[in-house]
Amino acid sequence: MLLLFILLGIVLILLITGVNKSSETNKVVEEFQSQVQMQVSQALVNVSEKSELMNLERRIVSEVKQMATKLLAVLSKKTIEIIAKISRKVEMLPEPACQNLQCPRYWQHFNGSCYYFSNKEVTWNSSNLYCSLRGSHLVVINDRNEQYFLTIESNTKRYWIGLTDHVNEDNWQWVDGTAYETTPTFWADGEPNNIGNQGEDCVHTDDKGQWNDNVCTMKYPWICEQQAKSA
Ligand code: BGC
Ligand code: CA
Repeated sequence: MLLLFILLGIVLILLITGVNKSSETNKVVEEFQSQVQMQVSQALVNVSEKSELMNLERRIVSEVKQMATKLLAVLSKKTIEIIAKISRKVEMLPEPACQNLQCPRYWQHFNGSCYYFSNKEVTWNSSNLYCSLRGSHLVVINDRNEQYFLTIESNTKRYWIGLTDHVNEDNWQWVDGTAYETTPTFWADGEPNNIGNQGEDCVHTDDKGQWNDNVCTMKYPWICEQQAKSA
């Protein structure tokens, strides 16, 4: 029985010594080592009485338990410190190269352009200003593929686009100067109808992605567009 405990002690010492080399952990391990060693040498001096052996057995078991608890606490603290250190390092890393080079964060890349789909709703003028401040313009739809892409990404939500006739009625103008006559149009049936007293001079997409002229002071989400940087 005693030999078994001596062996158990030695195995535990070897195990714990191998687990961690940090100075704090070493201190706990060294303390543990010397206590077990003390108990074992005492046992070797006086092994005559069975009751003494049983006492020794109880003491060793209780000390092993205490040490294991202490060691666990130290290791948990160390693990938390290491995880925090790694998280700080990760936060400081730059964005992945492809995002950095092509589009700003949270913008979508499609066919050489970056698109920002807003979550807020504002008037057409405010959305136009927002896009300018972000080095872009309200989206200009140049072809069928772009229209399809925007329709799918819009997911039935309505968005302001960069088309307006507020300067001259029925003289539609894209905000980036693209000539209206040179690009396909995707008006919904019966649009543009300039309905109502105040007129409808600004364009948004409908739930099918098709265009509707509406009062510019209505509030809708909006889509900005800017050229993607070359990869
Ligand atoms: C009409 C649109 C109009 C809108 C105004 C719709 O029912 O079809 O042409 O712009 O109402 O809110
Ligand atoms: Ca309309």
